[in-house]
Amino acid sequence: MAHLTLRGVTRRFGDVAAVDGVDLDLPRGEIFALLGPSGCGKSTTLRMIAGLERVDAGTIAMAGRALADGATGKALRPEKRNIAMVFQSYAVWPHMTVGQNVEFPLKMRGVAKAERRRRVADILEVTGLGAVTGRSAAMLSGGQQQRVALARALVYAPDLLLLDEPLSNLDAKLRTQMRHEIRRLNRELGTTMLFVTHDQDEALSLADRVAVMHGGRVEQVGAPTELYERPATPFVRDFLGRVVMVEGILARTPGGVRVLLDGAAHVDLAAATDLADGDKVALYCRPEDLDIRPALSSPAVPNELRGVVESAAYLGDSIEYILRIGAGTAVVTGGRHAPFALGDTLALTVDPARATVWPR
Ligand SMILES: Nc1ncnc2c1ncn2[C@@H]1O[C@H](COP(=O)(O)OP(=O)(O)OP(=O)(O)O)[C@@H](O)[C@H]1O
Ligand SMILES: [Mg+2]
Repeated sequence: MAHLTLRGVTRRFGDVAAVDGVDLDLPRGEIFALLGPSGCGKSTTLRMIAGLERVDAGTIAMAGRALADGATGKALRPEKRNIAMVFQSYAVWPHMTVGQNVEFPLKMRGVAKAERRRRVADILEVTGLGAVTGRSAAMLSGGQQQRVALARALVYAPDLLLLDEPLSNLDAKLRTQMRHEIRRLNRELGTTMLFVTHDQDEALSLADRVAVMHGGRVEQVGAPTELYERPATPFVRDFLGRVVMVEGILARTPGGVRVLLDGAAHVDLAAATDLADGDKVALYCRPEDLDIRPALSSPAVPNELRGVVESAAYLGDSIEYILRIGAGTAVVTGGRHAPFALGDTLALTVDPARATVWPR
């Protein structure tokens, strides 16, 4: 049975449904991400779970207990939910020491002093703050403040930890480090965690499962590999990672489908399809699934696309190219040791097992 369950959860602001019939099931101990562009309803969903926002329709339940029911208007008060929340801004109290910050939620809950001391020491140890316990919170770096916010949220063993864009104020190196830290905390403490982000790297690297949201709705829920390898909707396909897209016409073959491209080129796939002969289609590949080399022969061979280098950017570990492919362009990455030149024609070999065909 799921630990946290949302059924048809809806929140309207005026005529607009900011969150529109969201269903979610989180097993205990999972790290789950809500991923989507700005304004898609991520924070509003989180706030309804925390009890900071009214639920207009649908139900939220945790560990078999109703938290909110839109039909009756009944809602458990936030402080009765045993849910912790960490915000982007950390909201660490600057006039207190690290230890006092972390002890505060236990004081609020009337935990006895000896027990408080023990739990604060434990969580400071786990979050790597043991050495700065007595330091004023105002003196901490962004990364340390984030740890204090996490320690303060975890110290009272919440049934659920909600994180709203928790890493977006940290620099790239610290962000990577904190992702690993959060995963470790999840493993060691077993806390169920739900975080929201618009950053796909963060969602894919940190979460066990991800729900991609768009316009207040959940488009797809799945493990990171599932979403990336088998996107269910055009939105998920285009939102996650990069794609190379070429337009063509579909022809059914005994073994699957053939996509007829401009010129004499075509790509054969073993995929099953509901599409019919002559349908206008788009072939999608991930750039990293393409084998990219300088084009040698002049007409393209089967399963080969042609691209012309329009622009190149040196990134240190790799080179990023913008290629013109047919009527469109695509961004691909190449090794730094054998760079292509502007104007080079490249042969891009499609892996038929990894390309997908979509109606257009
Ligand atoms: N209190 C409010 N009053 C009116 N509209 C609101 C309110 N809170 C949120 N909205 C609207 O609801 C929609 C969803 O907002 P929400 O903050 O949940 O988005 P988000 O996915 O968290 O976006 P971001 O990535 O920018 O934080 C937006 O269109 C927003 O303008
Ligand atoms: Mg938000």
